[in-house]
Amino acid sequence: MRFPWGCYTTFMKILAFETSCDETALALLEATGGLKSPKFKVVENLVSTQINIHRPFGGVVPNLAKREHLKNLPVLLKRILNSSAKGGSASGGKSYLPRRQAGILNSIDLVAVTVGPGLEPALWTGVVFAKELAKKYKKPIIGGNHLEGHLYSFLLSHKKPIKFPAIGLIVSGGHTILLNMESLTSWKKIGETRDDAVGEAFDKVARILGLPYPGGPEVEKLAKSGKVTIDFPRPMLTHKNYDFSFSGLKTSVLYFLRDNPLPTGRQAKAKKADIAASFQQAAIDVLVKKTINAAQSFGAKTIILGGGVAANKALRDALKKEAKRVRKEFLVPKSEFNTDNAAMIAAASYINFLKKKKYKITAQANLNM
Ligand code: KG4
Ligand code: ZN
Repeated sequence: MRFPWGCYTTFMKILAFETSCDETALALLEATGGLKSPKFKVVENLVSTQINIHRPFGGVVPNLAKREHLKNLPVLLKRILNSSAKGGSASGGKSYLPRRQAGILNSIDLVAVTVGPGLEPALWTGVVFAKELAKKYKKPIIGGNHLEGHLYSFLLSHKKPIKFPAIGLIVSGGHTILLNMESLTSWKKIGETRDDAVGEAFDKVARILGLPYPGGPEVEKLAKSGKVTIDFPRPMLTHKNYDFSFSGLKTSVLYFLRDNPLPTGRQAKAKKADIAASFQQAAIDVLVKKTINAAQSFGAKTIILGGGVAANKALRDALKKEAKRVRKEFLVPKSEFNTDNAAMIAAASYINFLKKKKYKITAQANLNM
């Protein structure tokens, strides 16, 4: 292994931090291989969720997120080091633990941290913490793009070569993006949402239905017991472009409830379940149709899905089925890597390290891809 920056290395130990929203996440990864087929071994992947803190407010409160990250970062770091130190091969009793922990930090090749996009106060906490740690242990530090993390998260469990060109679909609480990818590192954005992101629409519909935050998983859970009985609009489905719009779909759920008040008693839950199922189906229809259209138009061999909404099984199943029908390979992250985590930031950072792509190590709330 040769350093510093830009020199090719075949094996790296990466410690990554992710604090862009309401999850404090740390991961320890071993990365190897070049840009054509990078390989990752996730040694530790810790996520401390703040759901219970933000739930009473119905959404993420940036300053509360910041406060929690500040509290959680040292705790998670200690937990990662403890666990690695105990599992390590070094001999000695308990008193050797601090020395072994320092040894682990010394053995790290790269510190990675999400620099954006995300909530600025939340991003700052991770950036400052990671920078200080890198400085103390004299390690190189690299900035990770949260969206690239989502795009690459399938790599954390995928070992085979990827066939390009590929279409990438990123679906999260803040973004809905379609990419035409020539390779793992070269892509063109071909479409994105013009208003709400699809995850945002799930969250807002959940609120309309009186479901707790975060809404996406709650809508999916409720939809399972419902039927698709309401013909909600499929926005921009027939437009000859790859952009999306989910704000009107959310509003039509609101108007439907205004015009069709919920029955009382047990029937209310059944009606809500039908609304959830019908809304979910409308959103999925648009995502799947646009992605498949793009894959066919651009001659893609592979479709890659990533982002928090990729945790939605109905979406994964629908896209997988359609991808199979049109003979495209379908790649999706393992369940624990769909929503925010630091392992994906380590993966994205390794790829950017190999590519010599550098982000400024500062909080960049509106960072793009
Ligand atoms: O990627 P992510 O964890 O954070 C952002 O980068 O935004 O995505 C969070 C979004 C939220 O809007 C959440 O409601 C949605 O992903 N989500 C889901 C599901 N799980 C999470 N949406 C639909 N179905 C799910 N199962
Ligand atoms: Zn995310």
